[in-house]
Amino acid sequence: MSYETILVEQRDAVTLITLNRPQALNALNSQVLKDLTQAFAAYDADPSQRCAVLTGSGEKAFAAGADIKEMVDKDAADFFLEDFFSGWQSGVVGTRKPWIAAVAGFALGGGCELAMMADFIIAADTAKFGQPEIKLGVAPGMGGSQRLTRAVGKAKAMEMCLTGRMMDATEAERASLVSRVVPAADLVEEALKAAALIASMPPMAAMVNKEMVNLAFETGLAQSIQIERRLFQILAATEDKKEGMTAFVEKRPGVWKGR
Ligand code: CAA
Repeated sequence: MSYETILVEQRDAVTLITLNRPQALNALNSQVLKDLTQAFAAYDADPSQRCAVLTGSGEKAFAAGADIKEMVDKDAADFFLEDFFSGWQSGVVGTRKPWIAAVAGFALGGGCELAMMADFIIAADTAKFGQPEIKLGVAPGMGGSQRLTRAVGKAKAMEMCLTGRMMDATEAERASLVSRVVPAADLVEEALKAAALIASMPPMAAMVNKEMVNLAFETGLAQSIQIERRLFQILAATEDKKEGMTAFVEKRPGVWKGR
């Protein structure tokens, strides 16, 4: 598969996807969405691949937002008729296998929203997160107002959306927006290491764990706890459940079949 705006490589069971428009600080245009949709679909469909990492090229930005130059001449009817931004939900959020965002530099607007679509974010100490859309006369459109509020709470989310202020990596870790902060030079290797660990787990269990944690964002507590219980029960039908528990009892590592 060839892509115009991203680089994709496989490192054993881990797919590394790199946003590659450094001259535009990896701004997210329609071609990026098209390329990411194809890359995530290929990753989901490839049984040899068990975790993915998404990062940005260049040290300056993960992504500085949706591409403003692509949006500047569009009016409300254009956005509505194209259902602009809807592809991110189906093409990226819909990925069933786990993936990690590795963020260095700016993650602004759609860039912050894309990072928050990941299962979790590992940040470089240079990372800066923000939703500066208000300065352009608009507001987040790829889920940012909802995901940021669920991640960091109302006070910080409201302040960031209303003022456009950026959050640095230290504050982002304190606010639980990112799982941890690492030196910029180690970012991709640390993310690949975390991905390799996930890739070593039983793959169906990884997919179900991802689905369960995401339920907490998408449904009420009583309903999501009931779905969690059902998914747990269904996992017991897999060969990997039998192997995982038997291996524990026999004091040896499990060998996964992926079903
Ligand atoms: N869209 C298109 N191009 C962008 C871009 C964006 N979001 N962000 C940066 N670029 C381009 C710049 O136009 C510039 O290109 P040229 O050299 O051709 O002029 C190049 O990237 C480098 O950027 P700067 O010269 O501006 O770099 P800087 O170091 O001076 O500033 C920055 C860096 C503070 C991140 C600044 O680029 C900036 O403010 N970018 C826009 C951030 C923003 O508003 N993001 C939200 C976009 S709207 C959105 O995302 C909607 C949504 O809800 C999804």
